[in-house]
Amino acid sequence: MQIVRTREELAAALRVAERPIGLVPTMGALHSGHAALIAAARAASGTVVVSIYVNPRQFASGTDVAAYPRDLDADAALARTAGADLIFAPDDATIYPPGETPPAIDPGPLAVRLEGAARPGHFAGVATVVTILFDLVTPDAAWFGEKDAQQLRVVEALAQRRGGPAIHRVPTVRDADGLALSSRNVRLTPSGRATALAIPRALQAATSAHASGATTAGEIRAAALAELRKGPALNLDYLDIAESATLAPIADEQPLATAVSGELLITIAAVVDGVRLIDACTLPVAN
Ligand code: PAF
Repeated sequence: MQIVRTREELAAALRVAERPIGLVPTMGALHSGHAALIAAARAASGTVVVSIYVNPRQFASGTDVAAYPRDLDADAALARTAGADLIFAPDDATIYPPGETPPAIDPGPLAVRLEGAARPGHFAGVATVVTILFDLVTPDAAWFGEKDAQQLRVVEALAQRRGGPAIHRVPTVRDADGLALSSRNVRLTPSGRATALAIPRALQAATSAHASGATTAGEIRAAALAELRKGPALNLDYLDIAESATLAPIADEQPLATAVSGELLITIAAVVDGVRLIDACTLPVAN
């Protein structure tokens, strides 16, 4: 496995790379969730490129991008074991060359609600860096996790507008206690982690309510909220039920059978110990 840092080194490595090229974009602090993305890319690609870049443009101003965990040696070891061929670990000047205006990428209507509303500018930053990575790496396909459900849909729409690459969804990887893997979990105290477990339990309650025959979004929401209220209070930002394809919200009284996507997306965002956690699941709808 090779590690490259500059545009020139990347271009040289890609000139001899076997196609199809699969890209797994990351911000580092790799964990088993990233390993699942890399393994999925490995199974379908001649060359697997993992990008590791903490993108300042997707952080709110004032948040400490510099404090984001960085450990290239540990990340390289995990990526190699999971099946990566090439790590692209650029610095800020490589992604955003001084004097060059980055492409102005509109993340589109899928970016307006949920994380888009909670974190203004976040998806514009994601769409910009993903566009730059797609342009530099020229992947045939890229892999994204289902935990970041809205990001996944924003990137799918972005790739569709560009005419590629193909975007593959990879299911959320969870710890044994159910918490979705996230680089942020290390910042949870033991009691915060126990509180955070209400999030996957609420998604499970939503899934069970749906399986038991709930016919409205309100019934699903009530089941999830009951679970969220059982333990110590977490700071709930949203519990959202939406059309999976368009992220259009589904009103509590709306019969689920009228959901046109054929699938609901349930997303939860909450803050525990000052750590913003998000999680999601989809539920099929027969209509
Ligand atoms: O999901 C992430 O880690 C980031 O948002 C991404 C896609 C690598 C863009 O910086």
